[in-house]
Amino acid sequence: MYLRRLGPTLAAGGALGRAAYRQTTVRAKSEDTFSADELAANDGTDGRPLWISFRGAVHDVTAFAKEHPGGKFIEMAAGGDVETFWRYWHYHFHSPKVQDALQRTRIGLLAPTDRTDADAEDPYHADPPRGPAHVSYIARPYNSETDRKVLSASYITPTDALYVRNHAPVPPIADAASHRVAFVDGEHEVSMSVPELASRFASATVTSILQCAGNRAGDDARDSGPNGFKGTPFEGIDCGMVGNVQWSGVRLAELLPAMFPRLRNLTGDNLHIIFEGADGYESSTPAKMVLGDGADCLLATHMNGDALAADHGFPCRALLPGIAGARSVKWLTAIRLSETPSAAPWNAAYYRQSDDAEVQALPLQSIILQPAPRERVAAAADGTVAVQGVAYPGAGGAAIKGVEVSADDGKSWHAATLLRDEVLKDDATAPHHWLRWTARLPLGAGGGALCCRASDADGQTQPRVSTKHKGYLYNGWSRVEVTVTPSE
Ligand code: MTE
Repeated sequence: MYLRRLGPTLAAGGALGRAAYRQTTVRAKSEDTFSADELAANDGTDGRPLWISFRGAVHDVTAFAKEHPGGKFIEMAAGGDVETFWRYWHYHFHSPKVQDALQRTRIGLLAPTDRTDADAEDPYHADPPRGPAHVSYIARPYNSETDRKVLSASYITPTDALYVRNHAPVPPIADAASHRVAFVDGEHEVSMSVPELASRFASATVTSILQCAGNRAGDDARDSGPNGFKGTPFEGIDCGMVGNVQWSGVRLAELLPAMFPRLRNLTGDNLHIIFEGADGYESSTPAKMVLGDGADCLLATHMNGDALAADHGFPCRALLPGIAGARSVKWLTAIRLSETPSAAPWNAAYYRQSDDAEVQALPLQSIILQPAPRERVAAAADGTVAVQGVAYPGAGGAAIKGVEVSADDGKSWHAATLLRDEVLKDDATAPHHWLRWTARLPLGAGGGALCCRASDADGQTQPRVSTKHKGYLYNGWSRVEVTVTPSE
């Protein structure tokens, strides 16, 4: 389970200061000073309050613990210092909600003589270097998107350019041969090394997009007001948390029924596949979505012909085409079969829509990649400007039928040219790769807004503005405002 999967540093940190706890509950007045013993006494057990300390202040988080998005993770710091944990789950230092919670829960100060420094070891020491194609949002945990120009330049997104979305440090896994994945169904557990998996099951290659649920969150905010990313470093996510990659590995539709006999005659919606990562991240997806016809899901070991890069899950990850990137768990250590969705924060609290449904299926999508917003572009002699982008199906995999572009806010539409010829031969039956497209559009002197929309074989067309899902799954028309330099 996700709490068990934390590294030794964190497990040890959970015992901070507990040895000396006293039986009596210590009650606090504002800005009182507390000793480490008093802090340790309030560890949330046996009806006692739950206290933590952070940088010399003491916080009573008894009530807050019930609404903590990370659920029971907070209990690991009970009666002790929380900073060691936050140095690992580093997003706490970026989140406005954490700042707010610290203010609300502060009850006093830790005695200066009892203050200790958080663990000296940097939990991010194994993070790899990243390339220049990344537009980085935060370094710890590392989060980036791909520069638009790089993204639009090729059908396959180069590995070193693909966006990275990490919630924690990259786990230091050096050797694929000794890395094992456990398959757990209740009491029944077997494990297999990555080479064993590769030798027992046929290898499959699938070209598919991988897209973060929050891609285009900035468009969502622009088109329909503030969303769940407001005030966070991710407020301005553009359109580059996506890429089109050639993934290879073992098909989950073959592997999972072999490991879990209960999946051989799957009926109903009551089973979930929980994927656990070596970094402590965990997520689940309904078994029907993972194993359904044409789902093309993989336990992937390779990308673009090479072993997975460290940032992208070496030595193995789940790859669920057409499903939000959050569900494609990296650095896989275990796969569980469960009657209920994962209780980890990334299912229970995060990646949920406005109606509280889990974020899973991606919608039909098209994006203008070039020109970039506010770019100054040159018009050709006929007064047209070049536009290019990508389009890809939603979770159902219905083929892209067409992409249209408009320079007058959708009053008139022009068909874009789909670059079908560059699709790899093997991708003909893989529904989740993207199609690049190009178009030329007349744009009046001075410039204006360009927009695009895709339609698919199921008769769906992207809406002007899509339903609000807290900033997730946005698929309204992609728009860019540009300035035009007339031709000479
Ligand atoms: N798996 C693990 N173990 N840890 C993570 O932080 N992030 C998820 C998913 N799998 C994550 C993970 C999210 S939110 C996304 S969008 C994708 O990985 C990003 O995959 P990438 O970094 O390879 O592009």
